Amino acid sequence: MSRFAEPQHDDFRRLNDSIGFDRRLAPFDVEQSRAHASMLAASGIIAGSERDELHRALDRVQRELDDGSFTFSAGDEDIHMAIERRVTELAGAVGGKLHTARSRNDQVATDMAMYVRARAGDAAGALAGLAHTLIELAERHLDWPLPGYTHLQRAQPVYLSHHLLAYVWMLVRDRERFRLVTDATALLPLGAGALAGVNFDTDRRLVADALGFQGVSANSIDAVSNRDFVLDYLAAAATCATHLSRLGAELVLFSSEEFGFCELSDAWSSGSSIMPQKKNPDAAELLRAKAPRVAGHLVALHGVLHGLPLTYNKDMQEDKEHLFDTADTLELCLSAAQGMMGSIAFKRDRMAAAAADELPAATDIADLLVRRGLPFREAHGVVAGLVRAALDAGKSLSGLAPDELAAHSPLLGEEYYAVLRDGAWLEAKVSEGGTSLARVREQLEQARACLP
Ligand code: ARG
Repeated sequence: MSRFAEPQHDDFRRLNDSIGFDRRLAPFDVEQSRAHASMLAASGIIAGSERDELHRALDRVQRELDDGSFTFSAGDEDIHMAIERRVTELAGAVGGKLHTARSRNDQVATDMAMYVRARAGDAAGALAGLAHTLIELAERHLDWPLPGYTHLQRAQPVYLSHHLLAYVWMLVRDRERFRLVTDATALLPLGAGALAGVNFDTDRRLVADALGFQGVSANSIDAVSNRDFVLDYLAAAATCATHLSRLGAELVLFSSEEFGFCELSDAWSSGSSIMPQKKNPDAAELLRAKAPRVAGHLVALHGVLHGLPLTYNKDMQEDKEHLFDTADTLELCLSAAQGMMGSIAFKRDRMAAAAADELPAATDIADLLVRRGLPFREAHGVVAGLVRAALDAGKSLSGLAPDELAAHSPLLGEEYYAVLRDGAWLEAKVSEGGTSLARVREQLEQARACLP
């Protein structure tokens, strides 16, 4: 019997069905259903023999899903209904008992929590992999100078190791964010029923243990309304994708003829369809461009959930494509970033030549004056005058003669030239977290200790 006299309109079906995308929840739905059937038997709600029949049917469903022989039928609105339909085909009438003390509302929340937990773990693993690649790269380029930039203007030279480690720390924080996402999936929604709980004294903790949850949600209304863990995943992913976009952007710049700091391997570059000489950093450009897509998914789900009355509303079905596309995009970007960085070639000479520009040492000369008692603001003015004099005379800073120095300050002598000698200003950055080699070595230790 059906409550409805008319069949569903085709376009309503197309709008309403989620089977086109939620089938990737299938392994979690089967696992959940197994645990649920076990609990129903343990609680005396179904017989042990019925549980066994349900388990046999669920095993078969899983095999069919694995080998691709599972066939979906026209009435399968979503993965939950498809699996229950197939279980009933295989097990007969007992299949109809699987949904006892369960609603699709707590069922889908549970599948989603399990899915998010799995993908957060995958992202954390991929982040560790990329971070290790960058750490190895930093070790191999420990003392290669390049200019550090602010406003994309040469500011102060740094070691490439230091620059690469900056990304490692972003990834370490990203990894921690995904760990917090996992925490957000700790409580089992199943058992909340449609919204109010179920008419059986179910053993929710048994199900929680079987499915790897730490405990059970305390409020059935919250349990079926909650998608915080999806928002948390999307937020962690958006921040991570933003980090990767900055890496991508730098690779685009640094691999250009103008910078010439690095060359991406052929495996991560494309040619031009018209200009045979070109080698384009498409992969790096796409790393740069994927971030807004992920951030868009986060904003979209906030839009779906904001102002939504409790409890379950069909709006919430819209969580899935945002989540799935985000997870796919992010994991692909992480693996591409690892591939690109694992095969990149840096060009020592080009970076060193750019870093040998003396003007970035202006701050170091100001600090020399500070050590001789001048307040920093005044020192800043003196050095600005020196920079201007050098530029006007078409000289480098070290090309200024002692009498020219004396015209700007009586405090500048031989040490001025020592500060400008190759590399001196890098090794002068001795403060904790600075670019001097000893500090970078410390940092490498710290970074390794943060990663599995
Ligand atoms: N396909 C639905 C979703 O993804 C499953 C839950 C349906 N629940 C309901 N009461 N219609 O959200």
